[in-house]
Amino acid sequence: MNGSSDRYDSLIDVIRRRRSVRRFEPGHAVSRETLLHIAEAGRWAPTGANSQCFDVVIVDDPDMRERVLDVFLAQSNRLIDHVKGFPAVKKTYMANTVAIFIVLADERWKRAFPVATSPEWAEEYRENNERILLASIGAVVQNIQLAVTAVGLTSAWLSGGGEDTTNRDLRALLGYPDCLRAIGTIPVGVPEKDLASRYRRPLGQMVHWNRYEPDKFRPDAMVDHYVREVRQFAMYRGEEDANRWDDADKRMGEWRRAFTSDTTGRHSTSE
Ligand SMILES: Cc1cc2nc3c(=O)[nH]c(=O)nc-3n(C[C@H](O)[C@H](O)[C@H](O)COP(=O)(O)O)c2cc1C
Repeated sequence: MNGSSDRYDSLIDVIRRRRSVRRFEPGHAVSRETLLHIAEAGRWAPTGANSQCFDVVIVDDPDMRERVLDVFLAQSNRLIDHVKGFPAVKKTYMANTVAIFIVLADERWKRAFPVATSPEWAEEYRENNERILLASIGAVVQNIQLAVTAVGLTSAWLSGGGEDTTNRDLRALLGYPDCLRAIGTIPVGVPEKDLASRYRRPLGQMVHWNRYEPDKFRPDAMVDHYVREVRQFAMYRGEEDANRWDDADKRMGEWRRAFTSDTTGRHSTSE
């Protein structure tokens, strides 16, 4: 096995091209058959204890889409008003979707995950079960986004719905029971332009062989710099290698090598 096969090549091509796109061409529609092909990929997602702790609402009716859009316009307005500095975009683009997939997590299935039988371990397992639930939903959303790409469409992954207010609004609109929560929303459409890529740090910096390699540690100051200066460009620009950004020095400053090479140049995991 040398890591290169036709199957790997097709898979990595879809994985690389999966993109968060927030501008769709208006006026398109797709068949329910296509939407079910996409949902099928979600069905095959791994979930904790094979609990299949999710449901998927697919909104393809234009009237319902408008009403979901209203919920998300209110959600993005809340972000703009109350989460200052986060590069949120208005969700008007959702009007141009061919469908919106809403992945609902079903909290009750946490019972199927490891539950402690000794009281002193209850917290340990209870907390981890939250992570198992969320990780399972992440796998579902990821599979859906990959299938969207594979059928020639594009999508975004919206965490909106995870907040209580948005979830309440969606529940009132879509009619799902209290034990379910909308964790991931995936507007699907035809991209306005091809956005083939996005900033990623190099593979060498991400991978640690056999044990954590301290020279790859990203210090707190680098995280802060990302949030302050880099985030809004890393989220929206269509270029993987930030060294190719025209304003690379301006954006990354003293952290340029750390954002773009195999090590961060720091040799300690504390500041
Ligand atoms: C858990 C999660 C939540 C996200 N929430 C949002 C969101 O609410 N709105 C949004 O526009 N993008 C959201 N994104 C998309 C990320 O911004 C995006 O994946 C990242 O910038 C990388 O871009 P790419 O997906 O095009 O590679 C989310 C992604 C993940 C994994």
